[in-house]
Amino acid sequence: MQLKAGHVAVVTGGAAGMGRQLCVQLAARGCAVATCDIDAAALAETAAECEAAAPGCTVLTHQCDVSDEQACLGFAEAVRTGLKTDRINALFNNVATPPPPSLTPSRPAPRASGGPGP
Ligand SMILES: NC(=O)c1ccc[n+]([C@@H]2O[C@H](COP(=O)([O-])OP(=O)(O)OC[C@H]3O[C@@H](n4cnc5c(N)ncnc54)[C@H](O)[C@@H]3O)[C@@H](O)[C@H]2O)c1
Repeated sequence: MQLKAGHVAVVTGGAAGMGRQLCVQLAARGCAVATCDIDAAALAETAAECEAAAPGCTVLTHQCDVSDEQACLGFAEAVRTGLKTDRINALFNNVATPPPPSLTPSRPAPRASGGPGP
């Protein structure tokens, strides 16, 4: 999908690295950007970089831990009210979180037979 001026893009983990660069690139394209991160101070730097790249751009920042469902719902509500829209054009799930416990082996793998013992 080609993102264009006026589109709404949501980026998780926008306070640093690739997430921040993504926000800046999207703002430079004329997209309205909403981004969340656990680091509020660094999020403010992202907003400043977006403004420097695209003066007058729309950038909504929200402090949020994406591993916390309630916090994510709060972010969604902040996007709805802050950008006055129920529709987004793109979601960049940039933050990696650990897998849920159900995907984590609960028992150690059996030792291969024939190997040296303890
Ligand atoms: N940089 C690479 O070469 C590379 C390669 C492959 C995959 N990745 C993946 O891409 C993503 C971004 O990489 P990066 O190098 O830009 O990372 P980065 O560490 O520079 O930035 C990650 C951002 O996510 C934020 N964050 C971390 N946990 C969070 C949470 N629970 N809730 C909200 N925000 C949170 C951090 O505060 C930080 O601002 C990561 O998921 C990484 O695993 C990166």
